[in-house]
Amino acid sequence: VSTFLVRSRAGHYPVRVVPGGLARLGGFARALGLRRRAVVVSDAHVAALYAWTALRSLRRAGLAAELVTVPPGECSKGRAQLEALWRTFAALEVERDHAVVALGGGVVGDLGGFAAATYLRGLPLVMAPTSVVAQIDSSIGGKVGIDLPEGKNLAGAFYPPRGVLTDPLLLGTLPERHLRAGLAEGVKVGMAVVGAVFERLEGDAGRLIGRDPLALGRAVLGCARAKGELVSRDEFEAGPRTALNYGHTVGHALEVARRYRGTLHGEGVALGMRAAARLSQRVAGLPERDRLRLETLLDRLGLPRRLPPVGVQTLLGGMVQDKKRRGGRILWVLTPWVGFASVPRPVDKRLVRAVLVELGARAGR
Ligand SMILES: NC(=O)c1ccc[n+]([C@@H]2O[C@H](COP(=O)([O-])OP(=O)(O)OC[C@H]3O[C@@H](n4cnc5c(N)ncnc54)[C@H](O)[C@@H]3O)[C@@H](O)[C@H]2O)c1
Ligand SMILES: [Zn+2]
Repeated sequence: VSTFLVRSRAGHYPVRVVPGGLARLGGFARALGLRRRAVVVSDAHVAALYAWTALRSLRRAGLAAELVTVPPGECSKGRAQLEALWRTFAALEVERDHAVVALGGGVVGDLGGFAAATYLRGLPLVMAPTSVVAQIDSSIGGKVGIDLPEGKNLAGAFYPPRGVLTDPLLLGTLPERHLRAGLAEGVKVGMAVVGAVFERLEGDAGRLIGRDPLALGRAVLGCARAKGELVSRDEFEAGPRTALNYGHTVGHALEVARRYRGTLHGEGVALGMRAAARLSQRVAGLPERDRLRLETLLDRLGLPRRLPPVGVQTLLGGMVQDKKRRGGRILWVLTPWVGFASVPRPVDKRLVRAVLVELGARAGR
């Protein structure tokens, strides 16, 4: 068992990483002061595997427990499912001291978390992340929200959870492609925040793909801790937290261009990191050998090397809707060395275009 605290404006909240922890969800909720009722929000895949364990544990701990599911996939992280959740909460006569438990990947965490943040102006939220993305990244830091057709995560809030219960054993059933994609967010933490995390991932790459439980547990804990420390220092992304947007400028634009289908979030981030590293080499002094280290690690994790056939113009258009923008200019998170990201800054558009074409984007639309 390993527990650490994350600081937020609402006080500290615990992140507990424990193999087999899901079966103790009820005790965890009680320890957080949640006693009456919990609505477990999940997606259909995850619910089929784990809802029973979660509900049983909550009920044994004396809470009334309900399950609400959304269809799996990024397309659920939108207005339609948000409204459906609000209305289900209304039908269930949810009250202010009823908790929402987000049991699932980043989609369920962001969507269910935003529903919790907004329904009755805020219900207590417990994160029970089940994917690599959610365990190492999205369950920590309080960012919740939904995508719009115009751009990723455009509507949302900072809404810290009461606690996060992470059970790395759940990753055993995660589909292979999602496992690989999720590890891209880990590489991001290593490349942009903590060099030691990057080195650990380099050493463990084969074991991670082979789902060695020890290696997965180590990666989850190392990345989650690093993220926890970062957001404790900068909850509202006024400073160092911007590092976590490494790879996301191109990544988000690609997701939008493909209408949230076809490219997984982590795959977009992997391609985005390749682009950002190439730009970093050209304008931020990232040594070529370190850029190659990044690309080799992404290769070993089986992450995509080439952009799907989208036009450079379409990608640039998507970036304009990105939140990391000042006075209409896109701000890039660049890495001068492994384990460090500099303050986001504009980059010459011609250079961006060249790198996107180099990675396989079509010149033109
Ligand atoms: N809030 C944040 O700070 C933050 C950070 C990073 C990413 N995100 C968001 O997270 C989202 C991506 O999250 P994701 O990659 O987890 O996607 P996801 O939630 O769609 O989960 C991936 C797939 O795996 C399935 N799944 C999840 N856990 C499983 C398990 N244990 N066993 C079997 N199947 C399982 C799900 O049903 C889904 O089909 C994006 O929308 C991204 O913007 C948010
Ligand atoms: Zn991400």
